[in-house]
Amino acid sequence: MNPCASIIFSLFLVLLVTATTSQLVAVGEGGDDRNRVNMKKCFDNERLALLLFKAPLHDTYDTLSTWRSDQHDCCKWSGVECSNQTGHVTKLELNNFFSQDGLGGEISHSLTYLNLLDLSDNSFHGTIPTFIGSLTRLRYLSLSSNSLYGTIPSQFGNLTNLQYLHLDSAGSCRVENMEWLSHLSHLEDLRMDGISLANANNWVGVISSLPKLLSLSLDGCELSQVMYPYSSFHNSSSSIEYLFLTNNNLNSSMYRWLLPLTSNKLSSLLLSGNMLDGIPKYLGNLCSLERLYIVNNSAVVKFPDFLNNLSGCTSLTLQMLITRGSQFTGSLSDEIQKFASLESLYLSDNQLNGSISEKLWELPRLQILDLSSNNLTVPSTYHLSSLSYVKVIGLMSCKIGPHFPKWIHTLKNLTSLDLSNTEISDTTPLEFWATWPSQLEYLNLSSNNISGKVPDLLSNFANLSVIDLSSNNFHGPIPNVASTLASLDLSRNKFSGGISFICQIVGGFLSFLDLSHNSLTGQLPDCLWHFKQLKIVNLGHNNLFGRLPPSVEYLINLKVLHLYKNELSGELPLSLKNCTSLNSLNLGANKFSGNVPVWIGENLTGLYVLILRSNNFIGTIPSKLCQLANLQILDLSMNNLYGTIPSYLSNLTSMVLQGFSQDIKVYRTEGGQTYVWTTYVDNAMIRWQGDEREFFNTLKLVKSIDLSSNNLAGQIPYEITNLHDLISLNLSNNDLFGDIPQKIGDMKNLLTLDLSRNNFSGQIPSSMSQMSLLNYLDMSFNNLKGRIPSSTQLQSFEPSRYDGNVGLCGPPLNKKCPDDEDLKVPPVVGESVGDGEGGDEIWGWFYIGGGTGFATGFWIACGALLVNRRGRHAFFHCYDNFKDRVYVKVVAFISNLQKARQM
Ligand SMILES: *[C@@H]1O[C@H](CO)[C@@H](O)[C@H](O)[C@H]1NC(C)=O
Ligand SMILES: *[C@@H]1O[C@H](CO)[C@@H](O)[C@H](O)[C@H]1NC(C)=O
Ligand SMILES: *[C@@H]1O[C@H](CO)[C@@H](O)[C@H](O)[C@H]1NC(C)=O
Ligand SMILES: *[C@@H]1O[C@H](CO)[C@@H](O)[C@H](O)[C@H]1NC(C)=O
Ligand SMILES: *[C@@H]1O[C@H](CO)[C@@H](O)[C@H](O)[C@H]1NC(C)=O
Ligand SMILES: *[C@@H]1O[C@H](CO)[C@@H](O)[C@H](O)[C@H]1NC(C)=O
Ligand SMILES: *[C@@H]1O[C@H](CO)[C@@H](O)[C@H](O)[C@H]1NC(C)=O
Ligand SMILES: *[C@@H]1O[C@H](CO)[C@@H](O)[C@H](O)[C@H]1NC(C)=O
Repeated sequence: MNPCASIIFSLFLVLLVTATTSQLVAVGEGGDDRNRVNMKKCFDNERLALLLFKAPLHDTYDTLSTWRSDQHDCCKWSGVECSNQTGHVTKLELNNFFSQDGLGGEISHSLTYLNLLDLSDNSFHGTIPTFIGSLTRLRYLSLSSNSLYGTIPSQFGNLTNLQYLHLDSAGSCRVENMEWLSHLSHLEDLRMDGISLANANNWVGVISSLPKLLSLSLDGCELSQVMYPYSSFHNSSSSIEYLFLTNNNLNSSMYRWLLPLTSNKLSSLLLSGNMLDGIPKYLGNLCSLERLYIVNNSAVVKFPDFLNNLSGCTSLTLQMLITRGSQFTGSLSDEIQKFASLESLYLSDNQLNGSISEKLWELPRLQILDLSSNNLTVPSTYHLSSLSYVKVIGLMSCKIGPHFPKWIHTLKNLTSLDLSNTEISDTTPLEFWATWPSQLEYLNLSSNNISGKVPDLLSNFANLSVIDLSSNNFHGPIPNVASTLASLDLSRNKFSGGISFICQIVGGFLSFLDLSHNSLTGQLPDCLWHFKQLKIVNLGHNNLFGRLPPSVEYLINLKVLHLYKNELSGELPLSLKNCTSLNSLNLGANKFSGNVPVWIGENLTGLYVLILRSNNFIGTIPSKLCQLANLQILDLSMNNLYGTIPSYLSNLTSMVLQGFSQDIKVYRTEGGQTYVWTTYVDNAMIRWQGDEREFFNTLKLVKSIDLSSNNLAGQIPYEITNLHDLISLNLSNNDLFGDIPQKIGDMKNLLTLDLSRNNFSGQIPSSMSQMSLLNYLDMSFNNLKGRIPSSTQLQSFEPSRYDGNVGLCGPPLNKKCPDDEDLKVPPVVGESVGDGEGGDEIWGWFYIGGGTGFATGFWIACGALLVNRRGRHAFFHCYDNFKDRVYVKVVAFISNLQKARQM
């Protein structure tokens, strides 16, 4: 669960509201030709112009099917609107019809009555046509989200009636000179996101002189590259209310030219993605400023000094401050009470420290407070007045414990609470559950040490609510929960009893259920499958028994089914075949029996994890399993499988090619908008270099085949050596025989190779000396013979890894080969590999990009990339243990083994 889901969602709403504030309001009728009363019958020349416009377009989805010469009334064509008074074509709305072609077929002068032209969200390429400058009645022009390039034509200066000009994401365009813009005196909304203004030295002067401009968006416009003139900055008469200057690499020298753009009318200022270090005093004179966004800034800002700078007016108007992921330092002291207008404070992922003042909670208008991931302490001694109306609180990774914060009860309007990882070691007071004041949407108490029973949670839940109590010490039966629940995570506690509570849930909302790592028992009820929305089900590490009930529903959404380590038995129900969206199927460590079903390979084609290890499966390995092109982890070990290893292994494409699987994302749609609601961090126990290890975030980086401890016979198919991206191969403890494939050294990414306890014969292929990443090898108990090929790696393993092969000789064994003159064990180069710290080595592998000599992106959390050995440990620890509470980001590309070893 993403503990911030709710908070992020609130933020999302905020942004949405801001974004739509400046949307198109109705654009009036055009045409002054009022003597014509020709209703809805379009002019021939305009129809012709439209047909000419359509002619060169690739209308892949036939969206313009109504645009036909035999359809005489062009006013009825899709996207076309005519004036009721004049009959002229006044609006052309062709947004989002996925054209592939350029903006060809010039709109001729015949369409001169157009007052709205919307070509946004297409794939138009080519330069921006200058003829648009002749459509002088235009009030609304949008070319947003296309693939155009070149200079914005100065002819746009003729569009003197324009109120809305949207060129955001139009392509890789630039403005050389802003002069033309100064003629657009009616302009209210200007969006030029992504257009380079690097050469437009006069942009500030021009834009600040536009008398009606309300909203200006210049996201990613290379504003830091502009050569700003030194003199001409003056106090402003600008009317701008919404000003977006995000992602421009600006430093604080921007405040020199910002002045003319800001006036008392400014209400929202977005400066995220820059390098500012503070807020100048004069911004404090902006007495209407309500929203300030400084997300992801790189420089240090002291809190709350900069708020003081903003308090120049008689009353501070600032309502929303968003500084997520910046470098704010300082504390939240009593001084905060001066800022009584604050409604939303998003200060997460900064470096604030000290104790949070009680006064903060009592800010009279405060509703949303996100202080997650700072070095802040929340005293348990608060005596809050009941005046607090806070609705959303995020305190993840702040220090609150050891006592459960009783002051929470004072907050009567709370709907979302995140107290995860806050060092609470206590029981939850009953009144916490009983008096949850208003409609609960989100509750996260995970990763603490909270104990006690959880009473039924039936009332006061909003639709689609989320409860996460994972990684605590709760015990007793699983409570009954409200039917409106969408997500329930009770994993890693001590809950006991059965899971029939699930049958009490009648609604169809449940999509995320994680009850793993508890002491649950009993059978799986049929009603488990009543939830068509189910996406993630993890019941692993419990004591559940009986059969896996067949599903009655078509569980098309199910992505993860984990039942690892229970006592489940019987054959797999055929209905699983219908779960065609499954990405991860983990049924290991149970008592399932029967054949490994062929339909897993035929129908579950999205699988990237298939773990059936340690069950009672019998029969052969179906060759159809090789159709699972996305598969990264195939674990069939410890069953009773016989027959040969299927030879179509090269069809396991993702083990052949570089690249990792996607995160499992759960989407949610609300108000017509779809967004990522949570990213599921898949986890699994894997046998890794002789031990069982649990993988979390790293799981998606692992590519492994484990067929060990079965009764497989025959030779290893040579195709296996095509699996160039495999990092772990375990075929031990079978009845395999014959030679080890000569080209096994092609599997250069292998970290782990276990062929022990078979009947392999012949020599160890010399290509194995190329496997420079190998750090776990077991060849023991076969019939191998001859000299062990020499390489840094092969000689560094303990001799016992070659035991039980009477014919082997040469280092690291003490046994001389017949042609040896004298026996010398070469010294081991570098650090000892082989044994040691188990899974730590996988990090070495990730750092060096798989040793393949080209960059591999990888994902890390916790901010910093640390390449030395100690650092790697810290990093690893951080990654695996804080699985749910990290902002994951791409951090590094490191190219090769040499580089990594130098560091
Ligand atoms: C124009 O006519 C259409 C259809 O008859 C009608 O829906 C629309 O409201 C009219 N617009 C004006 C401005 O009269
Ligand atoms: C724009 O107006 C200028 C005069 O202001 C004129 O010379 C030019 O031809 C016009 N451009 C277009 C494309 O109409
Ligand atoms: C700008 O306005 C401020 C405050 O209103 C005033 O102190 C300052 O003198 C003005 N500067 C100019 C150049 O007008
Ligand atoms: C966190 O704050 C405490 C005091 O509140 C301080 O001792 C500690 O060094 C701080 N830790 C970091 C990482 O800044
Ligand atoms: C707090 O909740 C009460 C009752 O639930 C409601 O009447 C009041 O308007 C809420 N206050 C705010 C500021 O939302
Ligand atoms: C799969 O789903 C379809 C459609 O709901 C259903 O008709 C069929 O019986 C299901 N198959 C199995 C094996 O349950
Ligand atoms: C399973 O795969 C087989 C073979 O591709 C196909 O005929 C069948 O329709 C699939 N069944 C489902 C439920 O997708
Ligand atoms: C393997 O892939 C090849 C080519 O894509 C295909 O012809 C063959 O049927 C596949 N074999 C299996 C067992 O999936």
